Amino acid sequence: MTIAVTGSMAYDYIMSFPGRFVDHILPDQIEILSVSFLVDSMRRERGGCGGNIAYNLALLGQHPLLMATVGQDAPEYVAWLRDNGVDTSGVLQLADEFTASFFVSTDRDNNQIASFYTGAMAKAGRLSFNDNRPETIEIAIISPNDPGAMVKYARECQELDIPYIYDPSQQIPRLTPSELVEGIRGANILIVNDYEFGMIKKQTGLSTSQIQELTEVVVVTQGERGSAVHTSEGVLEIPSVPPRRVADPTGVGDAYRAGFITGMCRGLPWLAAGRMGSLAATYVLEEHGTQRHRYTLDSFCQRYYETFDDETAFELLHSAVSLVPEG
Ligand SMILES: Nc1ncnc2c1ncn2[C@@H]1O[C@H](COP(=O)(O)OP(=O)(O)OP(=O)(O)O)[C@@H](O)[C@H]1O
Ligand SMILES: [Mg+2]
Repeated sequence: MTIAVTGSMAYDYIMSFPGRFVDHILPDQIEILSVSFLVDSMRRERGGCGGNIAYNLALLGQHPLLMATVGQDAPEYVAWLRDNGVDTSGVLQLADEFTASFFVSTDRDNNQIASFYTGAMAKAGRLSFNDNRPETIEIAIISPNDPGAMVKYARECQELDIPYIYDPSQQIPRLTPSELVEGIRGANILIVNDYEFGMIKKQTGLSTSQIQELTEVVVVTQGERGSAVHTSEGVLEIPSVPPRRVADPTGVGDAYRAGFITGMCRGLPWLAAGRMGSLAATYVLEEHGTQRHRYTLDSFCQRYYETFDDETAFELLHSAVSLVPEG
C-alpha cells in the first residue's frame, strides 16, 4: 500500500545582499520606486511542501507516491527525488511552464524582499487520484498547493474512500470557510501549526471542540514547544527534540508530517508517531535547506531511542524490513 503526497514542488532562490536595503530606498520618491540590488551569493534549494514531505518519507524507509506539477526546469529535481526513493510517477512536467519559484533577497539586517511565482503549481488541478491507482493508496496527505487543486483532491479522496490528512497551512487565507470545513470534515487528521489553527477558527467561526468533532484527530505543532495531538481520548503533549545545532528552521513542519505519517502507517501509538515527527523535524533544523539532511533508518531509530528512552522505534525498524518495496 502507498502513501500519496499531494503538494507543491518549488525552487527557492535565496540571495544575500551585503548592504542594507534602507540605505538605497528614498522615502520621498517612494511612488517611483525602482531599485536593483547587486547580490553576492545565490543558492537554489529544492523545496515545496509536497517535495519536502515526500523526501522525508523516503528517508524514513517509505516509497511515497508524489503527485505534483512542475515545469521545464524540473528534470533534475524529479530525478533527485526518484534517486532518493520517491515514486515520481505522479509528477506531471509541463513544458511551457516554470516550476513554482520563490525568490528572496536578504540584507545585512535580515530584512527580506521576496516574490513567489506559482508557475506550474497553478495547474495542479490537472492531476487526479483517479489516474494514480487509487485502490493502492493507504493514506493521502493534501498539502499546500493551488487552492482549487486542494479542494478537488479532498473531494476525490472522499468519493474514492481514500483516508486523508488535511494540511492546508499557508493556503488557509486562500480557502473559503466552507472549503475549509469540507476539507476538515472528510479528513481523518487535520494538521496545522498553532497560528494556522487560530486562523481556521477565526475564518470558520468554529471552536476547538467543534473542529475536533469534524475529524478524528487534530495535530497542532507549536515550534520549539513541541506539538499536541488531540484525539477523542484527550490531548497528548509531545515535546520537541533539542537540535545539536540550529542551521535553518525552514521545512520543519513538512518533516514533522513525514515522521508522524510514518509512525501512523506502521501502526504505532499516537505518542510514538508524534515523537517521530519531532525527531524528523529536528534533523531538518540542523541543516540549511529543506532536503539537505540525510540519515539512515537505523541512525534515526538509535537517536529516537536515546532521546525518548522508548523502544518503539526498534519495533519500527524490524517492521520496516518487510514494508520497504522490492525493486
Ligand atoms: N526550535 C525548535 N527546536 C526543536 N524542534 C522544533 C523547533 N521548531 C520546530 N520544531 C519541531 O518542528 C515541529 C513543527 O514546527 P512548527 O510548529 O514551527 O511548524 P511550522 O510553523 O509549520 O513550520 P514551517 O516553517 O516548516 O512551516 C514542532 O512541533 C517541533 O517538533
Ligand atoms: Mg508550516
